Amino acid sequence: MLTNSRGIAVIIALAISMLVAAFLSLLDTTTATILMVAGGISFSVSYLLINITLEFLVFREIGNIYTLLEKIQKKELSEFSDKSSKSSISPLRRINKVINSYALARQKEIDTLQKNAEFRREFIADISHELKTPIFATQGYIHTLLDGAIDDKEVRMKFLKRAAKSLDSLDVLVQDLLTLNQMESGVIKFTFTQFDLKDLLLEVIDQLEHKASKRKVDLVFQYDEKEDYITSADKQKIYRVCQNLIFNAVKYNNNQGKVKVSLKTSKHNLHVEIKDNGQGIPPEDLKRIFERFYRVEKSRNKKEGGTGLGLAIVKHILEGHKSKISVSSTVGKGSIFSFSLPLVKQVLPEGKEKQDVN
Ligand SMILES: Nc1ncnc2c1ncn2[C@@H]1O[C@H](COP(=O)(O)OP(=O)(O)OP(=O)(O)O)[C@@H](O)[C@H]1O
Ligand SMILES: [Mg+2]
Repeated sequence: MLTNSRGIAVIIALAISMLVAAFLSLLDTTTATILMVAGGISFSVSYLLINITLEFLVFREIGNIYTLLEKIQKKELSEFSDKSSKSSISPLRRINKVINSYALARQKEIDTLQKNAEFRREFIADISHELKTPIFATQGYIHTLLDGAIDDKEVRMKFLKRAAKSLDSLDVLVQDLLTLNQMESGVIKFTFTQFDLKDLLLEVIDQLEHKASKRKVDLVFQYDEKEDYITSADKQKIYRVCQNLIFNAVKYNNNQGKVKVSLKTSKHNLHVEIKDNGQGIPPEDLKRIFERFYRVEKSRNKKEGGTGLGLAIVKHILEGHKSKISVSSTVGKGSIFSFSLPLVKQVLPEGKEKQDVN
């Protein structure tokens, strides 16, 4: 009986009405009728007031807290409704609200920790997979040499060269991972200098020309010779961005495909666009290609496929320049990658780079 508001209200109202009746009975003028009426009225009024107070300010809110605790157990939390909290004057309502927001915050923390743990698991699996390939290859060549192939001069040279190549790719992978890690933790500093982006692109294209002609890919560069394309950026890192984007456009192209690099200016920016007519990227992969180790499945087994770190590095470098990489692609038709850098309207003496450290 004492566990609900009505039971408590009856007991307290009875006590009050008996007190009232006891006081009234001390007066000489009090009759039995007055005593009964006064006792009845004081009982009803006290019962109503106590019941309403207990029901709306205490028991209902305690009920809500129980429901909330059940929701926390079942992880079915939702934002606390402010409407009902404003219409209530119960202090328990505030406790209810505090418990709700505390539980929500803890739930978010747990979700983030679970996501991080999942990410770490995937990351370790990816790294192990990527490290395995060059290590196994090198191991194979060295063991074959030790098992006797070392005596054959021709085989010896061939296997040593292949082992060295595998170790080189292992070195590239570790360097890329270190770069990404340092960029993510903000250790890497960007050194901004002013330079002509057209010259940098010409350098990259010159370096990749050989790879393009091997695949009979036509690599063209469109820019206005009369124009200056001076920008302020980290030259080495932007070189890396252009190198990966143009190399990707050549690598993931068809034989006799075409790659068009174009450089344009607008009022405040320089726009670089790398367009290819290669295999393209399916829409479901397009949003994931900037993740570490992500590669479109079909390119995984191809020997020209890299480690899948290139675009993750590109994204980080451009973020460090307050810019971002855009991509659009159609399967079977090709892809367009583009980014912008600030235009510096100042002609510098030839071959000079102004130091402008960030
Ligand atoms: N121009 C493109 N056309 C088609 N697919 C592309 C293109 N650029 C990137 N991709 C896809 O996106 C994936 C990720 O590219 P990313 O540059 O990050 O890695 P990668 O070239 O495989 O390796 P890395 O650049 O580290 O040597 C590629 O494996 C490829 O599947
Ligand atoms: Mg790449």
